[in-house]
Amino acid sequence: MRSQESELINIGELGDERGLLSVIESSKTIPFEINRVFYIYETKTSVRRGFHAHYKTRQALICVSGNCKVYLDNLIRKKDITLDSPTKILLLEPNDWHEMYDFSPDCVLLVLASHLYDSEDYIRDYKLFVEVYGS
Ligand code: TYD
Repeated sequence: MRSQESELINIGELGDERGLLSVIESSKTIPFEINRVFYIYETKTSVRRGFHAHYKTRQALICVSGNCKVYLDNLIRKKDITLDSPTKILLLEPNDWHEMYDFSPDCVLLVLASHLYDSEDYIRDYKLFVEVYGS
C-alpha cells in the first residue's frame, strides 16, 4: 500500500490594524477538495481521542484556538506534533494512524476532510492498520 507522509504547513496570516485573518482554499492551500468540516472542542485535558487511520480520507487539522498535540504513526515514522497556532496546518494522509491529546481548555481543533463521513472508511483496529498499510 502507498505510504504518503504527513506534512506540517504554515499558511501565514493577513493582518491589519483590525486583527488577523487566515485563509484555506480547497484544492489550493491544501491538496484535496474539502467535502466535510468538523471541529473538536471542550475536550477534557486527560482525554486522548482519534485512534484510527483511514482507507481514503485525507484531512487537514488546525487548532484555530488553544493548542493540542497529535501523535502520528505511518509504520515508517512515529512522531508527536504540537498544534498551537491558527496558521499551522497538519496534513494527514489516509495511512496516518492519529491520536490527539493534551487539549488546552480553549482548544478548538478544526478538521477539514476530503470525504463525507463514512464509518466504513475508518480503520480503528491497530492490527488491521498494520495488515493494510504494512509492506
Ligand atoms: P469519533 O470518530 O469517535 O471521534 P474520534 O475519532 O475523535 O474519537 O466520532 C464521535 C462520533 O461522531 C461518532 O459517533 C461518529 C460521529 N461522527 C460523525 O457522525 N461524523 C463525522 O464527521 C465525525 C468525525 C464523527
